[in-house]
Amino acid sequence: MALSLVLGFESTAHTFGVALAQGNAKKPFSASTNVLANVSKKYPSTAEGFIPRKLADFHAKNYPGLLRACFGQAGVSPSDVDAVAYSYGPGLGHSLHVGFIAAKSFAVSQRIPFLGVNHGLAHVEVGRFFCQLYEPLVLYVSGGNTQILSLENVARKGAYVNKAERQGLSGSKQYVTLGETLDIGVGNFLDLVGRHLKLDPPDAVGVLRQAPGGRLLSLPYVVKGMNVSFTGLLTAVKRLPSSTPKQDVCFTAQEVAFSMLCETLEKALVFTGKKGVLLVGGNARNARLQEMVSLVAQEHGATFGVPPFEYCGDNGGMIALTGLMQWGAKYGFDRMPNQKVRVEQEHVLW
Ligand code: FE2
Repeated sequence: MALSLVLGFESTAHTFGVALAQGNAKKPFSASTNVLANVSKKYPSTAEGFIPRKLADFHAKNYPGLLRACFGQAGVSPSDVDAVAYSYGPGLGHSLHVGFIAAKSFAVSQRIPFLGVNHGLAHVEVGRFFCQLYEPLVLYVSGGNTQILSLENVARKGAYVNKAERQGLSGSKQYVTLGETLDIGVGNFLDLVGRHLKLDPPDAVGVLRQAPGGRLLSLPYVVKGMNVSFTGLLTAVKRLPSSTPKQDVCFTAQEVAFSMLCETLEKALVFTGKKGVLLVGGNARNARLQEMVSLVAQEHGATFGVPPFEYCGDNGGMIALTGLMQWGAKYGFDRMPNQKVRVEQEHVLW
C-alpha cells in the first residue's frame, strides 16, 4: 500500500507548528507511520499574558519560514503532499484563523483535500500512537483543558449521535468525559501562580523550577466527584502573606493541584477498570505530575504512558498524525474554525 503524506498546522493558542506525517492512512498505528519533520515557534511568556491579536500577528509573521523549514527538514516537496490538516478548535479565534488560512491556501494551491482536526483529540491520539496504548484512561492536562477521558463505543453514548450519523459511522468510538475542571485548566492555574509570584519565566515552568525543596502550606483542596476546581486554590495563593517563601508556594500549588488530579484519576480508574493510563497535554511534561500519575497507575496494575517531550505541548506533529488518521477514515473535511468544539464530539474511526 502506498504511503500517504499529510501536512499539519497547529495555531490554537501561543504556538504555531507545522509538521509532515507519513504512513499507511488505513493503518496509522502501524510501524510505517512516521513524523518526517515537526517545527514550531512559541510566543514568549510575558507578564501581560497572551493577547489574542498579538498572538495572531506572531503566527502570521512566522508561518512562511516554518513551512519552508518543515519541507527542508523532511526532504519532500509541496507537490508530494496528499492532504492538509489544521487544528480547527478549540482555541483563540484570531489564532485559529491564521492556521485556517495557511492550511486552506496550501490546499487550494496544490488542489488537495483539506481536513479540520480537533486540537484536544490530537493531544490524545498522538499519545495513543507513541505509547501504543489503544484503550487507555486519559488524563489530558494543559492551559485550557483538564479532563479525564475514556474511549467508548458509540452505542454506549447514543445521546451524542443521531440515528443517521450512527449508520454512517458504524464501528466508530467516541471519548467520554468522566471528569474535568469546573473552571480553569490546571496549566492556566500554574501559569497564573507563576505570574502572581513574578517568576522567571512567569508561568508553569517557573513554578516547576521553583518548587523542589519547598514546604507544604495549608491551601484548599477541591474535588467534587471526578471533577476538580482551581479558582479557589488560586485565590488562596494570592491571599498568602507576601513574606511567604516563593519556593513553598510553588511546591504547595503543584502538590495540591496534582493530588486533586490523582484522586479523580484513581476514581475513574477503579470505575472503568482500564489497564492503561495515558498522560497528555502541555502539562504532561511536568516530571512531578508524571511521577504521581505513574504511581496511581502502578498501584492499580495499569500501564503508564506519556508521549515524547516535543509531542506533549502544542505541536504540528500531533495535527499531522491525527490528520493522517482522519484522511484514512475520510473524516472531517472542509471544517471552519470552531472555538468551542469538544473532544467528545469527535468520532474515532481508526
Ligand atoms: Fe494544547
